[in-house]
Amino acid sequence: MKDKIALVTGANGGLGTSVTQALLDAGAMVVGLSRKIEQSDFSSPNFTALPGEISTASGAKAAMDTVVSRFRKLDILAHTVGGFAGGQSIAETDDATFQRMFDVNLNSTFYILRAAIPVMRKTGNGRIVAIGSRAALEPGAGVGVYSASKAAMVSLIRTIAQENKDAGITANVILPGTMDTPVNRKSMPNSDFSKWVRPAAVASLIAWLVGDAGRDVNGAVIPVYGSEG
Ligand SMILES: NC(=O)c1ccc[n+]([C@@H]2O[C@H](COP(=O)([O-])OP(=O)(O)OC[C@H]3O[C@@H](n4cnc5c(N)ncnc54)[C@H](OP(=O)(O)O)[C@@H]3O)[C@@H](O)[C@H]2O)c1
Repeated sequence: MKDKIALVTGANGGLGTSVTQALLDAGAMVVGLSRKIEQSDFSSPNFTALPGEISTASGAKAAMDTVVSRFRKLDILAHTVGGFAGGQSIAETDDATFQRMFDVNLNSTFYILRAAIPVMRKTGNGRIVAIGSRAALEPGAGVGVYSASKAAMVSLIRTIAQENKDAGITANVILPGTMDTPVNRKSMPNSDFSKWVRPAAVASLIAWLVGDAGRDVNGAVIPVYGSEG
């Protein structure tokens, strides 16, 4: 992936850290975005930290403008920004939770992709991989707003795949089950962690999708559920 410019959103998250490292290891120049990202988060000279908030239109556009002004192009977008809320039925869900789930899971996807697609179309190539969730296809009691926001996001990515295949762009979405992240270990300490999805496995899949072998895969919705449930 030498000479490839990759943007990883959520680059310091439980999954994003593995994705950023996998793309650096593959030789890409990686711009890592999150609200609190720091240059010292990754030691590679090919890493650039880009602090930013992408659940607003202006924040996402500013982030993309910075990428273009520094690197002139964007080859790869790995969008891992997302957030979870659970424990309330739909009837109990308050406005703030509803808004937060749609801001972080759907609106961030729409805003960053709306800004990125014209940049990719200019060069006639681009790879987009977004992270949905198993819950997008399998809603459960108490996680309805999270599920709905991820289901809408899957629809958005599939549409983008259709709308941009003429320009050499692929767009795919991965649906992880519960992942083995430090946050999940802390909040579910009695679980069998070995059944969870390894972030490094999802990162390898992303590296494959954005590499040469992944060129023919477009519009895919890919379950990665581990051995749980
Ligand atoms: N963990 C799981 O078990 C699981 C299961 C299925 C699907 N997923 C999905 O997988 C993805 C990654 O999950 P994760 O566990 O790695 O999440 P995480 O650790 O909470 O990471 C989220 C990342 O997004 C950044 N972020 C959040 N809001 C942002 C915003 N408005 N603008 C810019 N950056 C923002 C965070 O950094 P800052 O705080 O610095 O902004 C962080 O880097 C998410 O889409 C999640 O929904 C996770």
